[in-house]
Amino acid sequence: MRKRAKRGLRAPSASGAGMLRDAGRARAGRYSVGAGHPVPPPGKSLTRACGAGMEGSVRPQGERLQLLLRRCREAKACAYCPYSRFPVGAALLTAGGEIFSGCNVENACYSLGVCAERTAIQKAISEGHTRFRAMAIASDMGTEFIVPCGACRQVMREFGKDWDVYLTKPDGTYIVKKLDELLPLSFGPEDLKKA
Ligand code: THU
Repeated sequence: MRKRAKRGLRAPSASGAGMLRDAGRARAGRYSVGAGHPVPPPGKSLTRACGAGMEGSVRPQGERLQLLLRRCREAKACAYCPYSRFPVGAALLTAGGEIFSGCNVENACYSLGVCAERTAIQKAISEGHTRFRAMAIASDMGTEFIVPCGACRQVMREFGKDWDVYLTKPDGTYIVKKLDELLPLSFGPEDLKKA
């Protein structure tokens, strides 16, 4: 019996708690799975309003951060990746506090596959959201934090350089990187106006 279902490789959601690592900022903490936070049904975005502390460049914290981390793991379970067998989930937090999740969606015509990060961004954009605060990404890699591919970094950068990307492991540990750290010296929409 294979560990994962063949169609789409729906991976079991990860669980556990671990030390929280914050890209050199030495914050410590834990997150738990199934802690009773409301989770919208698959395919629905969270519409609960965020608290006042969510505005500006403040990082998501507490329950909202835990929900973001949980949503990326849940999205991973929906990955359609029969070719790579490498499920990825992403959860994108908008400036208004909504969360849009996405998974990788592969295709028999391999080059048409799309990453989890871009799925989440396309879902958010297509519902009218263009300002983002953070994205969390999950994979099944036990030894490495999942990092976005170059194409996804560029697509993310289209919507600003000053937002946070949570790179996670299945054990619940994560590191946080600013998009500007993931894609330094980047080209963006502002540059088109400089020529
Ligand atoms: N993938 C993602 O969805 N996000 C990443 O951050 C890295 C890679 C997907 C693309 C492809 O479906 C599979 O993982 C293997 O590359």
